[in-house]
Amino acid sequence: MLGHELSGVVTDLGYGTSGLTVGQRVFGLADWTRDGSLAEYTAVEARNLAPLPADIDHTVAAALPISALTAWQGLFDHARLKKGQTVLIHGGAGGVGSIAVQLAHELGARVIGTGRATDRDTALGLGADTFVDLQADRLEDVGEVDVVFDVIGGQILERSARLVRAGGTLVTIVGPPNARPADGSSVFFVVEPDRLRLADLAERVRSGRLNPIVGAVRPLAEAPSAFASGGGMRGKTIIRVAEGG
Ligand SMILES: NC(=O)c1ccc[n+]([C@@H]2O[C@H](COP(=O)([O-])OP(=O)(O)OC[C@H]3O[C@@H](n4cnc5c(N)ncnc54)[C@H](OP(=O)(O)O)[C@@H]3O)[C@@H](O)[C@H]2O)c1
Repeated sequence: MLGHELSGVVTDLGYGTSGLTVGQRVFGLADWTRDGSLAEYTAVEARNLAPLPADIDHTVAAALPISALTAWQGLFDHARLKKGQTVLIHGGAGGVGSIAVQLAHELGARVIGTGRATDRDTALGLGADTFVDLQADRLEDVGEVDVVFDVIGGQILERSARLVRAGGTLVTIVGPPNARPADGSSVFFVVEPDRLRLADLAERVRSGRLNPIVGAVRPLAEAPSAFASGGGMRGKTIIRVAEGG
């Protein structure tokens, strides 16, 4: 989803726009059908933007909208994760998974993160209680869980569905699931804009309770090569289109 999230300053308001002012720092999502945030100026519906506190850098805020809203909506709106429950979070050092690990840990859930061997320290550092190296460990050894948060799909999703205890939920963000828990539900969803939740997530970042992983920060002219190379490092690739702000 290139060019779909942004952080910047309001330069003009459409007719009838309320709740925002010119010069205000904001961050959020561009419209699904238009994208367009890889540009100096972007037209975005006001309802898709949230105020950005002065002490959060734009490069941090730009890493937040899709990953953080997806993590929140998956854990709490769709899986209804509760304190004390066990959640298996795949890709626990990735964009969505790293936020999900932090939110679930803060809630007081028991968090099992997964990923590659090189992801272990990151996931554990963010609050995972246990880490499963999907290439070296047996996923089935984690036992039963209340919630699976899947970001990988395929075989991993299929095997994870068997771990969900009765009444539990498997949430996936990859596509319609190819498996479901025997006595539970499976949900595929696409993230929805939510300016109030974005404001809450920004406050968590401001207060140090939530840390999005920012990867490479590259100038606009280097956007094609940055994305072609996959960013080359862990975390979101951020394209800086203007200095300051
Ligand atoms: N439905 C929605 O609304 C929605 C919203 C956001 C994202 N998505 C989708 O969700 C997926 C994840 O997004 P993301 O931003 O979190 O991506 P990401 O930053 O690449 O994170 C995925 C993580 O999972 C790891 N991983 C993937 N396959 C693995 C495997 N077989 N074994 C071990 N680790 C594995 C990746 O490691 P490596 O990088 O080393 O492979 C990475 O750390 C993408 O397909 C994205 O398009 C959907």
